[in-house]
Amino acid sequence: MDKLSKNLDAIWTDKATELFGVFGDPVAHSLSPAMHNRAFAFTGYNGVYLPFRVEHIEPAVAAVRTLGIRGVSVTLPHKVAVMEHLDRLHPLAERIGAVNTIVNTDGVLGGYNTDCFGAVSALKHHTEIKGKEVAIIGAGGAARAIGWGVKDAGGNVMVVNRSVEKGEQLAGDLSATFVPLAKAGELTADILVNTTPVGMHPHTDEIPVPAGLFRRGVVVMDIVYTPLKTEFLKQARAAGGKIIDGLTMFVLQGARQFELWTGLEAPVDAMRKAVMEQLPE
Ligand code: ATR
Repeated sequence: MDKLSKNLDAIWTDKATELFGVFGDPVAHSLSPAMHNRAFAFTGYNGVYLPFRVEHIEPAVAAVRTLGIRGVSVTLPHKVAVMEHLDRLHPLAERIGAVNTIVNTDGVLGGYNTDCFGAVSALKHHTEIKGKEVAIIGAGGAARAIGWGVKDAGGNVMVVNRSVEKGEQLAGDLSATFVPLAKAGELTADILVNTTPVGMHPHTDEIPVPAGLFRRGVVVMDIVYTPLKTEFLKQARAAGGKIIDGLTMFVLQGARQFELWTGLEAPVDAMRKAVMEQLPE
């Protein structure tokens, strides 16, 4: 870490300091504290952000009220269970069925989903979404958030999944087409998004779909960011595709959280740099 980064991470508190944090289990390896504390330091916002390992979400939400915690990131396994304990939900979070952000506005707790925003804005930096064929690989929570975002942006969603039941369920909710993973080789999508853990360290040579389906000009995004260049992204680039790594979406969902909490423009580049410093080579 260089000298400048170290200085930026010096945390000052006084009686006006606002408290933020992440609720999850496990949470020790979360990159969010480094990212958000850097954003506070960079913008001069008087806040501090801590990881909280939370087993039971209800008393943790009560603590937000009692202690006046200003904002919280919510991660696995609490993204769905947290919803019923909040005062209001953003319509998109309600539709997705998951909340990853709590905003405490004068004691009223609002729930938002910025995973969706992060994914859509990452894609929009590289391509138009409207009218495009978008294959979402996987059918878990991340696929659901990204699927709704892409649909709202006017993309034609295809859900590609290993288990038929889960895939058909999500495709049905999104009024999308379902493609079994075994038939993924026949896809002709403009945009492909991997939402499965396939390719994540230590199984870095694995790829969620056959490499043969990448074409020149295809836009390919991975939500896996350990490693940053997954086999999925490597093969896509080799075939002439445009690639978007998993950190892009992660940082943009965090940037949106920062903006919801502070009303300030997020220092996206500084946030990405803070996260990169935490990752192994
Ligand atoms: P999250 O909520 O974080 O998105 P999840 O709910 O565990 O994670 O969903 C993971 C998705 O990745 C699932 O759609 C899963 O497919 P199944 O429905 O068949 O279980 C998919 N997935 C996980 N491991 C996979 C693998 N080795 N090959 C293909 N798909 C896989």
